[in-house]
Amino acid sequence: MARGRFISLEGGEGVGKSTQLAALAEALTGRGITVVVTREPGGSPNAETIRTLLLEGDDTRWNSRAEALLFAAARSDHVESLIKPALDRGEWVLSDRFLDSSLAYQGQAGGLGIDAVRDLHRFGSADFLPDRTLVLQLADGEAAARARVRDGHAGDRIGSRPPSYHAAVDAGFREMAAREPQRVRLIDASGPAATVTARLLYALGDLLP
Ligand code: TYD
Repeated sequence: MARGRFISLEGGEGVGKSTQLAALAEALTGRGITVVVTREPGGSPNAETIRTLLLEGDDTRWNSRAEALLFAAARSDHVESLIKPALDRGEWVLSDRFLDSSLAYQGQAGGLGIDAVRDLHRFGSADFLPDRTLVLQLADGEAAARARVRDGHAGDRIGSRPPSYHAAVDAGFREMAAREPQRVRLIDASGPAATVTARLLYALGDLLP
């Protein structure tokens, strides 16, 4: 049996990621693919426990290195206990965020550097990577983040960081697309939801059965 594919969906705050995750899962299922939808931080029982530690409490709760290590630890468990077994069964795994969130948030915006955070992934998960990473992007990510904070939709420890932090997150995702153009694709998230879903499917064209 062919191994399944691992796809991660990424993006800053307020780009319509949840809507697109559901639409993409449905589109893949419609093509006869068995899809396991998961998320980070979390996705396995142990990683969900770490998620609570990461997203609740004061912004100053963790220093930046401890925060990056917790994301890497959660990811290690998620990869071993959920993602790899599903791929071995021939299923596709669609994850709401994965490594590139750590590279963009903790590495680029948090100031640790993309390479340092990638080293944590080498240690925690043997540098296990998605077959494709789709990054939803709006032209003015900073404005979107500001609106989201203003409208009160970004209540967690990390979502509520200032617009400058979220602008740096966007820059981090663009940097990853430049470094790994075969794996990481920037997807225009503007326009009707169905159009955005079509763009996502197009970017998976070479992987589809
Ligand atoms: P979540 O409620 O899942 O937010 P969203 O709807 O934006 O995906 O919270 C996840 C938060 O954690 C989000 O602000 C991004 C952040 N995050 C990191 O900082 N690093 C990571 O490695 C991951 C996976 C998420």
